[in-house]
Formats: sequence, structure tokens, C-alpha cells
Amino acid sequence: MKISTSASPPTAVAADLMAVAVTLPVKLEGAAAALDDAIGGQLTELAAAGEIRGNRGRVVVVHTAGRGVKAKRVAVVGMGAAAKVDAEAIRNAAATACRSMQSVRGTRLALVIDGLGVDAADAAGWAVEGAAIAGYRFDRYKTVGANDLPKPPRSLTLVTSDRAARRRAQRAGIVAAAVNRARDLQHTPPNELGPEELAERAREIAAGDSRLRCKVLDERGIARHRMGAFLAVAQGSGRPPRLIELHYRPAKARSGMTLGIVGKGLTYDSGGYSIKPVGSLATMKFDMSGGAAALEAAAAIAELGLPINVVTVVGSVENMIDRNAYRPDDIVTAANGKTIEITNTDAEGRLVLADCLHHARRLGATHLIDLATLTGGATIALGDYHAGLMSNDDEWSEQVRAAGDRSGDHLWPLPLHDTHKRMFRSDVADMANSSTMRMAIPCYAGRFLQEFAGDGPWAHVDMAGTADIPRPRDYYARGGTGYGVRLLVELAESLC
Ligand code: BES
Ligand code: MN
Ligand code: ZN
Repeated sequence: MKISTSASPPTAVAADLMAVAVTLPVKLEGAAAALDDAIGGQLTELAAAGEIRGNRGRVVVVHTAGRGVKAKRVAVVGMGAAAKVDAEAIRNAAATACRSMQSVRGTRLALVIDGLGVDAADAAGWAVEGAAIAGYRFDRYKTVGANDLPKPPRSLTLVTSDRAARRRAQRAGIVAAAVNRARDLQHTPPNELGPEELAERAREIAAGDSRLRCKVLDERGIARHRMGAFLAVAQGSGRPPRLIELHYRPAKARSGMTLGIVGKGLTYDSGGYSIKPVGSLATMKFDMSGGAAALEAAAAIAELGLPINVVTVVGSVENMIDRNAYRPDDIVTAANGKTIEITNTDAEGRLVLADCLHHARRLGATHLIDLATLTGGATIALGDYHAGLMSNDDEWSEQVRAAGDRSGDHLWPLPLHDTHKRMFRSDVADMANSSTMRMAIPCYAGRFLQEFAGDGPWAHVDMAGTADIPRPRDYYARGGTGYGVRLLVELAESLC
């Protein structure tokens, strides 16, 4: 999507649909009044008739029929009460405008972002995110009726006289494109995206940017690092595992700090011998969502040229069943030397992450964050809007949480506490990988990871509920959300 800004009057900007926002109670002023004048007072009439009302989510589309407005249509989008206009309201309004445009097969969208009562540069970024994320579709595998599918927006023009808006809009465009690339990876079916294909995407990201370097370890490389936990998960699959490293070293970087990003990259999670019930298997292609977000965020961080060293580690593997698969009762040794009794092969994510966290520290990460669709319990506890946040460091935790709120990838803290060590005690090894006590599942999974996260600041993000959503919400369709990309870019920027 090509993003630009225009300081021209809204009547003079070409588009398939020109959207202007109104708040409650509706008053046509500024751009709305100018557009209304140009089309002969139609908006005033519709407002008087109660058709244009300003309530949140409501949209009224009027054809301009080549009169005094260059755009083919004017859309009046309701925002609700003026006092409640915030980032999410603007993302949602832009999404509503984008969907209205797509429903009439338009591809050129324009949005008025002046006069919303917030900083226009902020509004520019939020509007780009809302439109780009709402405009996304995954229809690569649609062959029937492909011509009738809504088209992704080709251009977005932000109508504003603010000179800072352009830069912020471009930044948001880079980040939103990364979000949508992560969603492409999420949606790609597991027969076509395995660990090697995810690794190939990482190589592609690194190619053509001298500040990025990609290194991929295969089974033998992973074995050389004595990553017995990671390898155990891999051994039941015909597709070999990959440990993916992306190193970003800009010419100028904040010294003494390396941000370590770790992603769970299970391209399929059948549960293994502790097989999932039939209703839980579908959607398990999304178990690589943390890894996809990690890689595409690293790509966006490099594209933005952020002055900070970043090392990204993604453990990619399939959790499958065959005669070589690991079993409940196995005991494995992780890269840090600790032994783990397998009590449930479906608690595989923490095994992969255990070795990846340890590896990221060895690669020099001073500040760590991991993203993982780790537990169904996180969905039950928090739903599809907040991911669970656990951390060994209050300051780091708050920094991650605040970056999440600013970015639109929201988080809410869950306890990380030694009491939960009780739940993964083992009679025969240093620890077990799961518990039969049905309690605090996201919390003890997080506490398990702490055994491998080293001493510096570390935050664990359980994004099982936010990575893919069964019902649309806000500016998202159902399916993969690209959760984590915006969070990671915002976090990296906050460290510069
Ligand atoms: N990938 C799943 C978690 C998950 C479940 C993500 C549902 C999204 C939707 C993870 O590997 C898993 O199976 N976790 C188990 C852990 C349990 C065996 C301790 C879970 O949450 O049930
Ligand atoms: Mn599992
Ligand atoms: Zn899993």
C-alpha cells in the first residue's frame, strides 16, 4: 500500500473513497463542512434526518457524482464521544473506512486526519495501521471467484496540513506491512510452511541488507549445542528442525545493550503422543506465530534503521507422532545442563524455548523478550485482546507493557512466582515439563522458562489468545493477527 500525505483541501484529493470522521453529537465542521458544501449540503440533510449520527462504527457513504469533490465517494465515519477519541478509536475508524471502500471494489483510500482533537502525527500513524491491518486478506489459495474478492488497498492518502504526519505515516506503513507479512506466514498451511520454509524467509529478510546476518542451524548444529529439549520435540517429525538466528548490527547502536528476541516457531503442534482432542488440532498451524512476529519485527527494525543491536532466535519445529517421537516418561537434557522429565508431549513449546532462551543469552542478549503461543490457559484467563506478560524484572516488565499499550499489541501482567515451582517438580529429573494440577497454567509455564532465561532482564509473552482469533474484533478479521510485530518494534524504539 502506497502511503502519502496531502495538504490540499479534502475536496481536491482524488480517491475512490474519502473518509471524514465525526464525533457524537454530530457537528459538521472543518473538512466535513467543506465536503458537505461541495456536494450541495447532502451531509447536512443526512445529519438532520438522523442518518449520520457520529456513533462509533457507523458509516454513511455518499456518491459525489463528479460534483465539487474529486473523490468518487465521501464516507462519514462515526467515532463516538469526542472525549473518548484515542488510538484504538482512530485505528477502528480507519478500518471502517477501508472496509467501506473495499466493499465497493475501491482501491484508493483517503482519510482526513486533521480536526480529530489529537496530535495529527499520532493520528496519521494510527490511521495507517487501522487501514492496512483491516485491508489485509489471505486469499493465496482461492481460485474460485478470485476476481470477486475484495482487493487490498493500493494507496492511502492522509489529508492533513501537519508536517510531522508524513514521517509517522511512513513508519506506520513499514510496521503494518511487517504485521501483514507475519500474517501471511501464520496463514500459510503447515504442509507448505515447515521449519525449513520459515528459515528460508529469515534468509530472505537478511539478503540485501548488510546490517542483517542470518544463520540457520540444522539438526546436527542443534545437537552440537546439546539442545536436548529442542531436539526431543523435533524427533517425531519428518521435517527437520531449524534454529534460526537473525543478527542486526547497525553502524550506530546504543552500546552495552543487545535486545534478544526469542520466538516459538512450531509450524504444527499435534500434541505428539499426548495428542490433542480433535477439536483442538485445527488452527495449530498458528503455533509459529511468535516466531513469525519475531522475524518480521526484526525486518521492520532493520528497515527503520533503529540504532540498537538486536539478536533474534526462533526455534522452528513440528510436534508430530511416529515411532521416533518423544514420549511421556522420557528424560531429556537441555542446553544449560538441566534435566527435564517429559510428562506431557503437548507442553513442547517450553522445551523449544528453554534451549532458545539459553542460546540467545550466549549470543549476547542483555535484555530478553520471548513471544510464544504457549498455553491455552492464557486465552481463558485474558481473552483475545491482552497477551499475558511475565517477567523477572519490574522495570523491564513495565517497559514492555507500556510499549504494548502504545503499539496496539496489549499485554497484562500475570504472576511469575517461585510458588509455581511446586507444579513442575519431578521425582526423577530436575523438573517436569507439565503438571496434572489444573492451576495457574500460564504462570507455571512462565516459571519453567525462567529456569533457562539467565540472570538479566527477561520478559515472557504468552500470546496464545491474541495470535489468532476465532471471531473478528476491532480492525482485525478472524485468523492471524500478526500480534507482536508492533510490540517488538515499539519496544526496540523505546530503547534507542
Ligand atoms: N500450542 C499450545 C498452546 C495453545 C493452545 C495455543 C490453544 C493456542 C491455542 C501448547 O503447546 C500447548 O499445547 N499447551 C498445553 C500445555 C499443557 C499440556 C501443560 C495447554 O495449554 O493445554
Ligand atoms: Mn502443545
Ligand atoms: Zn504448542
